[in-house]
Amino acid sequence: MGRTNECNDVECSYVPVSDELHATGPSAVLRGRSKTVVAVFWGMLVVVSLVALTSNGNIDHVSTSASTNKDLNTETLPARGVCAGVSEKSNTRLFTNNNNGEWFPWNNSMLSWQRTAFHFQPEKNWMNDPNGPLYYKGWYHFFYQYNPNGAVWGDIVWGHAVSRDLIHWFHLPLAMVADKWYDQKGVWTGSATILPNGEVIMLYTGATNELVQVQNLAYPSDPSDPLLIDWIKYPKNPVLFPPPGINVHDFRDPTTAWLTSQGKWRISIGSKINKTGIALVYETQDFRTFERVEGVLRAVPKVGMWECVDFYPVSTKLEKGLDTSAYGVDVKHVMKVSLDDDRHDYYTIGNYEENGADFVPDDIQNDVGIGLRYDYGIFYASKTFYDQNKERRVLWSWIGESDSEYADVTKGWASVMGIPRTVVLDKKTGSNLLQWPVEEVESLRLKSNKFENLKAMPGSVVSLDIETATQLDIVAEFEIDKEAIEKTDQTNEEYNCKTSGGAAHRGALGPFGLLVLANDGLSEYTPIYFYVVKGNDGNLKTSFCSDQSRSSLATDVDKSVFGSFVPVLENEKLSLRILVDHSIVESFAQGGRTTVTSRVYPTRAIYGDAKLFLFNNATEATVTASLKVWQMNSAFIKPFSPEQRS
Ligand SMILES: *[C@@H]1O[C@H](CO)[C@@H](O)[C@H](O)[C@H]1NC(C)=O
Ligand SMILES: *[C@@H]1O[C@H](CO)[C@@H](O)[C@H](O)[C@H]1NC(C)=O
Ligand SMILES: *[C@@H]1O[C@H](CO)[C@@H](O)[C@H](O)[C@H]1NC(C)=O
Repeated sequence: MGRTNECNDVECSYVPVSDELHATGPSAVLRGRSKTVVAVFWGMLVVVSLVALTSNGNIDHVSTSASTNKDLNTETLPARGVCAGVSEKSNTRLFTNNNNGEWFPWNNSMLSWQRTAFHFQPEKNWMNDPNGPLYYKGWYHFFYQYNPNGAVWGDIVWGHAVSRDLIHWFHLPLAMVADKWYDQKGVWTGSATILPNGEVIMLYTGATNELVQVQNLAYPSDPSDPLLIDWIKYPKNPVLFPPPGINVHDFRDPTTAWLTSQGKWRISIGSKINKTGIALVYETQDFRTFERVEGVLRAVPKVGMWECVDFYPVSTKLEKGLDTSAYGVDVKHVMKVSLDDDRHDYYTIGNYEENGADFVPDDIQNDVGIGLRYDYGIFYASKTFYDQNKERRVLWSWIGESDSEYADVTKGWASVMGIPRTVVLDKKTGSNLLQWPVEEVESLRLKSNKFENLKAMPGSVVSLDIETATQLDIVAEFEIDKEAIEKTDQTNEEYNCKTSGGAAHRGALGPFGLLVLANDGLSEYTPIYFYVVKGNDGNLKTSFCSDQSRSSLATDVDKSVFGSFVPVLENEKLSLRILVDHSIVESFAQGGRTTVTSRVYPTRAIYGDAKLFLFNNATEATVTASLKVWQMNSAFIKPFSPEQRS
């Protein structure tokens, strides 16, 4: 039985957000602030009290006085999405206030600073999964899960935007709304397939009027329109119902289709049986009738529901990407799942056997859902597409908020998209992918500063004079003093970004790196760093981390340290790239072998007070750093206007 079955309608309800708040930009937040706070409190109290009524039958349990805000912590915040049959969509793990029951005094200038300049965001409201990305007649299309009514998850429809270059986006009208019985409770996630004749096929999950997850077909009403503004839902939808033995809440997010050598199309859909994550496979010729392929693409016990399965080939020889149907020599396959249970995206490299539709991992230790992650920070529900325009595979991902829902509602928006990343197999290691921001992002680079061979002594912080530091593209290389490495004793220390104390934990050979979004007094800063351990075998083991623990003086934001190991091969320097864009920091180590995305919400290190520092908190080693830092332009993402057609 899925946990969805334990829910009832009451728990599914979410805090309604007043239109007034959303219709207004950040400048109005202050004006409406006290009103907003009251509205949000009352919304939460209503939910809390209803939950208490139904589950305890005890009215007295709920106080209606304002002091209840002390109780609005992790335990009592309403879940969003889970009852409707998708993964949790709210920050229920976050405290919304400090222990004294006081809200952090966010003000307008702090909150409006958080909006990004060159990452994709809708103009307002809530966004989640990327959907159906594709390139068509000169335009990149991007669809996304969108709530037109508020800054929290709910009422999901498909937002739509187009761009010539994956960076400068224009908002278009909603592509699909919840207007049919088979998607009345949500037009959920889906993928595009471009047929050899150029036809565009969209498959998506609908939540029916009874919250059954079904798959539906849609296509452009006018294929000659490069903007693909209007979509037709196939009159005989749904095209797929949950099969016998599968819970009706565990059947969602169809992949892009790939072709078999028999000329049939296959898709995969994520599910689970008990706690075993599985990926079902279906075959079709016309995308209207489907037949289940016996068995599963892959099944892994104990990991739970697989959402947003992605399945695609990568070349073992070429640098370019491969069409989703590529199969045969010099091809490996990548399977990615989004784990509902921990909300991370895991991938596995392996071999796909067309006969039997069977995926076999190269390394069983890194099986689907237990091995490598695309990104060790905030990064979920991602999806790739093959860009036939530039012959590359491009990865999109939803980067959610890690502040309080209260702040999101006050801002009037929630979530950004990561900068699209090219994905290739790492030919040097053969065992991981390389992810890198699409080259087009470099068109935003403005003036740059170069720093060569800066020496950072153990325990030092070096200010980098680059003026403001809220929109940056940073490329840096580090070398640890060789003598120090030789001198350093071997150790059995097991460094773990998450649990070892972040950049405040000092070892002989680390941490060192950069402090981004840091203010002059260092009351707020976010270290992006390497930590190197000389193991008992004499080999160096390197971690790459992002430490949010001192990123903000606010009490109601996530303060985790994120990161993981990064393979560093012989004769390689340590290298990183960081994209800083207000509240998002995307970091790539060793050409994209390990990536970490953070959302940070400083209160002092903002606008002109946001600075950049080099730091070395190793106790033994001096580190030499060379950097180039570009100021980044805004992408000026805005509504589409007719003159953009040309
Ligand atoms: C917001 O608070 C900060 C820190 O207290 C202060 O410097 C800033 O002037 C405030 N801004 C507004 C618009 O009140
Ligand atoms: C799922 O769990 C139930 C209860 O433990 C068990 O009876 C059933 O056989 C399991 N199903 C499968 C397919 O393993
Ligand atoms: C370096 O470590 C010390 C001691 O733990 C800590 O106080 C300091 O904040 C660390 N520096 C940085 C930049 O994290």
